[in-house]
Amino acid sequence: MEFAQITHPAPVPGETRAQAIADPGFGNVFTDHMVTIDYHADRGWHDARIGPREPLVLDPACAVLHYAQEIFEGLKAYRHPDGSFALFRPHVNAARMNASADRLAMPHIPEDLFVEACRQIVLKDRDWFPTVDGGSLYLRPFMFASEAFLGVRPAREYKFLVIASPVGNYFKSGVPAVSIWVSRDFVRAAPGGTGAAKTGGNYAASLVPQAEAIAKGHDQVVFLDAVERKWIEELGGMNLFFAFADGTVVTPPLTGTILPGVTRNSLIQLLRDEGLTIREERYSIDQWRRDAESGHLLETMACGTAAVVTPVGKVEGPEGSFTIGSGGPGQLTGKLRERLVAIQRGQAPDPHGWVMKL
Ligand code: COI
Repeated sequence: MEFAQITHPAPVPGETRAQAIADPGFGNVFTDHMVTIDYHADRGWHDARIGPREPLVLDPACAVLHYAQEIFEGLKAYRHPDGSFALFRPHVNAARMNASADRLAMPHIPEDLFVEACRQIVLKDRDWFPTVDGGSLYLRPFMFASEAFLGVRPAREYKFLVIASPVGNYFKSGVPAVSIWVSRDFVRAAPGGTGAAKTGGNYAASLVPQAEAIAKGHDQVVFLDAVERKWIEELGGMNLFFAFADGTVVTPPLTGTILPGVTRNSLIQLLRDEGLTIREERYSIDQWRRDAESGHLLETMACGTAAVVTPVGKVEGPEGSFTIGSGGPGQLTGKLRERLVAIQRGQAPDPHGWVMKL
């Protein structure tokens, strides 16, 4: 599909942009373009265009505002040492968006169209890559129901958009390891629910427990399973890995209540490349505490596109607080982060063909 190029009437001046990308934090600064593609049940996807980032005009009856038919993705673009640009496993994000679409009764977007939309915005906004160390251009593709009606049924009209945000670290810099609060009153997802889909509602539901975590002095909330309230699932927006003294690593299995993270999947491969045994199996909050206290558990890491690979240092659970290892970054966490980032940034060979040069 051809992308119509809409001329920007007033691009952000270079000086303002330079200031904005010097130290952008995470998700605070946006480039000045966006991709839009429309969908109608009778026409399929049509009218792909890239133009100025601008407010959307929506009918107040449009379905997303009432029944939350919305899904999104998150992926990063990197500037490589040779000056070229690259995406990391964009087809995996495209496939996950379509899996989310299946759960939310939304149409698939062809994977190549998803990837081309990402490519278009990166090349258009190439001057927006942050200058801060470790910076990247975070892409946020999303799709929502734009048809105006109030009956409860899947909409017949949708919009797919991609916006871009120059980003640095997700967690404020200087934090050696994050601290986690175990949610007691709230769960993220129940069996049969939407936990495996990347849909706004899952994140909306995480806001109160996340605010509780912050109020208790922690960085992130971790959710337990909805049925037994004992198995560790995931953080508000990241997957978890547990590394043990015997060289094995555990991560919670994809049972339908956990988001199948692209970083999670990549780390499983990198751990296998290291010759480590990685098990996708349930791990309980009690075991987490016992293993941390006995020293059998050496490290816990949180991972996601935004968070990359971040060490967990402290946990406050129902039975009180415990510390993981020294409470600071562990060896394996540091090594994995370095390996992943080096591949993403074109500073190391890419044995699995994960990097797509633009
Ligand atoms: C991502 O890691 O890309 C996410 O969508 C999670 C969110 C916490 C930013």
